[in-house]
Amino acid sequence: MGRAVAARFAANGMAVLCADLNEPAAQAVANGLTAAGHPACAVRTDITDEASVAAMAAAAINWAGRIDTCIANAGAMIEGDILSLSLTDWNRAMLVNATGAFLTARAVLPHLLVQGGTLVFTATTVDLSGMKGVAAYLPAKGAVMALTRQLAADFAARGVRVNAVAPGAVRTPLSESQFRARAADEAEFQTLLAQVIGRYPISRWGTPEEIAEGMLFLATDRSSWMTGQIIPIDGGLLELRQAPRSARSKARFGRWDARAETSF
Ligand SMILES: NC(=O)c1ccc[n+]([C@@H]2O[C@H](COP(=O)([O-])OP(=O)(O)OC[C@H]3O[C@@H](n4cnc5c(N)ncnc54)[C@H](O)[C@@H]3O)[C@@H](O)[C@H]2O)c1
Repeated sequence: MGRAVAARFAANGMAVLCADLNEPAAQAVANGLTAAGHPACAVRTDITDEASVAAMAAAAINWAGRIDTCIANAGAMIEGDILSLSLTDWNRAMLVNATGAFLTARAVLPHLLVQGGTLVFTATTVDLSGMKGVAAYLPAKGAVMALTRQLAADFAARGVRVNAVAPGAVRTPLSESQFRARAADEAEFQTLLAQVIGRYPISRWGTPEEIAEGMLFLATDRSSWMTGQIIPIDGGLLELRQAPRSARSKARFGRWDARAETSF
């Protein structure tokens, strides 16, 4: 998703600093943008490390002179229900997803406040509906949603808008590893994928580009009167699963009707 965000924002005329723990991957994205004529650079950043995040913000200022928007998108999936999760698992989910969002926001906000700007977090649709077997990841993303609303309230009057995108299932290394962890073999993995997607009204995976489009909207003046919002981009999963049960809606949506489900 970060790669798609970088490409979409660069195409919109922005200078993009790609920050990721995986430095070669971030550098490859930046190199691709530079080769296409867009200003871009990369910096290794560990969002769980206060000094690393501060260095990332300083690098952005040194390179571009200002920060207009920050897409705080890095995250990690930790699988497991509460009975199978260790305290280490819980702490890891909180550290990468919640503390990482907190540290990132704290490092960039002073710079956003200089001329006004935007902060966009990545939540998840299933935090708004519930899902089986992610008893650390969902609470961690819940903290990200609460942080979105809190920062929006704290900084609206000072020219900084804070919103979040809540993606449904998007085919990336993260979602792939999530479903592989639940499947014993390739056949079970394929069956699981088909079941998940079958529950989406728009019955396919989302693309990173579709999420990046929402982030661009929230990051720019196109969304100038929006703050504190958590916007699902999820093929209709969240909204349509709550449609009133009726013979008509059942006939129409019966194939994916997820109201009886507690997972995706
Ligand atoms: N893929 C989905 O279906 C889906 C759905 C809902 C929400 N999300 C969220 O979207 C975001 C992007 O996910 P993705 O699917 O692109 O995952 P991904 O695994 O492809 O990418 C996550 C990126 O975060 C980086 N990262 C991990 N830990 C880091 C750290 N400590 N410091 C800096 N970078 C770190 C990884 O190196 C990787 O490049 C995540 O926050 C994820 O929770 C994904």
